[in-house]
Amino acid sequence: MTVLKSQDEIKRMADSCRIVAEVLEGVKKKAESGVTTKELDDYVEAFILSKSAKPAFKGYRGYPSSVCTSINEVVVHGIPSSRKLKDGDIISLDIGVYFNGFFGDAAVTLPIGNISSEAKKLISITEQSLQAGIEKAIAGNRLYDISSAVQQCVEAEGFSVVRNFVGHGIGRNLHEEPQVPNFGKTGEGPRLVEGMTLAIEPMVNAGGWEVTVLEDGWTAVTRDRSLSAHFEHTIAITKNGYNVLTKL
Ligand code: MF3
Ligand code: CO
Repeated sequence: MTVLKSQDEIKRMADSCRIVAEVLEGVKKKAESGVTTKELDDYVEAFILSKSAKPAFKGYRGYPSSVCTSINEVVVHGIPSSRKLKDGDIISLDIGVYFNGFFGDAAVTLPIGNISSEAKKLISITEQSLQAGIEKAIAGNRLYDISSAVQQCVEAEGFSVVRNFVGHGIGRNLHEEPQVPNFGKTGEGPRLVEGMTLAIEPMVNAGGWEVTVLEDGWTAVTRDRSLSAHFEHTIAITKNGYNVLTKL
């Protein structure tokens, strides 16, 4: 069942989402060659706690950290460690916050120093595909209009969308119905209505779409070890169109 939110609830969600946007903005500036992903996690956790909020991922199904740090061929759910970022890496930072009864969730992928032109293109297309999906998040459209817009944007460039992880409804829970796949057919899926709040999150591989989860039970890598990028926003569907809650 999809839980619809009132205008007041969306305002409260916007508060959680603003903290997500702020901490992403801050951690972006810290992500440079030589820094460990654990240092990024420490920064993210301290920032969120300083806002009297809680890191939503820490402890979620046993996930150990406040941010997912997914480097290069890691698709999602990379665990912060003593690994140092190095020139030429790309890293996705995915952060969830719980505040005042509601969750917010967003992710970005960043270049570290000089990256290959393929990596640049992958990051740029993934971000564009998120925007293309968001633009379909209009009351009266169908859910898979979002999915299809993401998929078309990605596949037109010869990249592939991951199948076995999807976006999701979000609100009083981190994951609510409906699932928001990054592939699907225009005109299909549930009708979008005012009050829906969705985390739209394209995960895009430079090679094939298949993913393997490593021994730690979390780290998802591309099966062919090609590069992967990930962007995510939490949005609300209002009577005036979409509202991107995790944008500053
Ligand atoms: N943005 C991801 C999601 O919506 C991150 C979850 S990480 C986890 O599922 F640790 F919380 F699982
Ligand atoms: Co999410």
